[in-house]
Amino acid sequence: MDKIFINGGNPLRGEVTISGAKNAAVAILPAIILAQDVCRVENIPAISDVDMMIRILHQLGAKTKMIDDTTYEIDSSTINSYVVTHDMTKHLRASYYLIGALLARFGRAKVAMPGGCNFGVRPIDQHIKGFQLLGAEVSFKENAMIDVEAPELTGGLVYFDVVSVGATINLMLAAVKAKGLTIIENAAKEPHIVDLANFLNSMGADVRGAGTDVIKIRGVEQMHGCTYSIIPDQIEAGTFMVAAVATKGEVLIKNVIPKHLESITAKLLQSGATVEEYDDSVLVKGNGRPGKCNVKTMPHPGFPTDMQPQIATMLAIADGTSIVSEGVWDSRFQYVEQLTRMGANISVNGKAATIEGVETLNGSPVKADDLRAGAAMLIAGLVAKGTTSIENIVYIDRGYDNVVGKFQALGADIWRVNDADSPKALDDSEAV
Ligand code: EPU
Repeated sequence: MDKIFINGGNPLRGEVTISGAKNAAVAILPAIILAQDVCRVENIPAISDVDMMIRILHQLGAKTKMIDDTTYEIDSSTINSYVVTHDMTKHLRASYYLIGALLARFGRAKVAMPGGCNFGVRPIDQHIKGFQLLGAEVSFKENAMIDVEAPELTGGLVYFDVVSVGATINLMLAAVKAKGLTIIENAAKEPHIVDLANFLNSMGADVRGAGTDVIKIRGVEQMHGCTYSIIPDQIEAGTFMVAAVATKGEVLIKNVIPKHLESITAKLLQSGATVEEYDDSVLVKGNGRPGKCNVKTMPHPGFPTDMQPQIATMLAIADGTSIVSEGVWDSRFQYVEQLTRMGANISVNGKAATIEGVETLNGSPVKADDLRAGAAMLIAGLVAKGTTSIENIVYIDRGYDNVVGKFQALGADIWRVNDADSPKALDDSEAV
């Protein structure tokens, strides 16, 4: 298993180009199943979650062709199975999007559920409620297989009790070919929901209202192939923004949609940084030691939970005391133990962490407990005095495209080594 090493202390300086959005890519790739045709998808990030999704499509019978580093052509007309086994899904949380897509294509989906993740229980009751409201029968089989069947899906009104990105996406996938009108109320509004809607519409679907809390989907009989470019990754961009401020550097972050970054920009401005927005880039500058600020994560357009560990790491070296509250997941503070080893002063009480800023962190061996916890360890290593080594970096590989190369190009002293002695990092119950 590889490890990442960082000699901290270098301010990040220069330019970085953001890759395509992971959480859009893992929804758009299964959506190709609906086209029964060739789709060309551009700006696909080179991350392991995407590799796994493409492998699953291939195993189901799709023809997949890599055109260049970021572009794939996928022909889903040859898909001939609605069964996705545990071997295929065990490391990929987003594999549950295959349920909505296969159900819409074949009237049936048998998909092994991915395990829970490190930051608490991850129920799918809202997904199931949605499928049932469209007329599907849902049953659970041995080996954690979920079997969803509907000879004919019929549009209906689906009100989600919680705002769920996954349930919104899964219902959109199931409803695009259902008979009549589906209305999703209390829908999630994340940028990747809008991106999926745009992709589905490019394939001939009729999806309106994505990005608001009511999405209306009028079912169509046929969908077709298209060419589509995935939006830039909001969280990768946010991670570089926070890293720039935490290291007191100055970085031009290119290929972004500044509007998607507003909640992150607001917190960086509040902590004393400078953020200049351009058409498709942001210039982020740290002005000395960051100042304290309080952060509460919320569904979009609130501050993203997927940026919580990274901003908490910046606040760990800020001047003053900050409170970071988690408003999406039951708990997402596992990384605090690792930061504490590096000298951070953080106490967690339920869904809130009180962070007493310290002058600096000290390099130390740490591990990535999940993807964004891994991003937090990268930022901690970049600011710390001395050398930090990060284990379990398979998590980081899931969501960050060439992260070591990108930080190196910004002047960080960071490198990756293969360490055959590192413990096996993933088990079957850990997926983002
Ligand atoms: N929830 C339910 N029932 C459901 C579904 C969700 O109670 O049926 C609850 C969850 O327990 C949670 C809240 O609703 O408390 C929000 O969960 P959501 O369904 O929105 O999360 P998700 O779809 O499983 C996606 C991202 C996560 C990100 C969350 C929130 C993907 C593949 N994953 O997960 O991304 O944290 O939305 O924005 O899109 C990451 O990229 O690091 C990551 C974990």
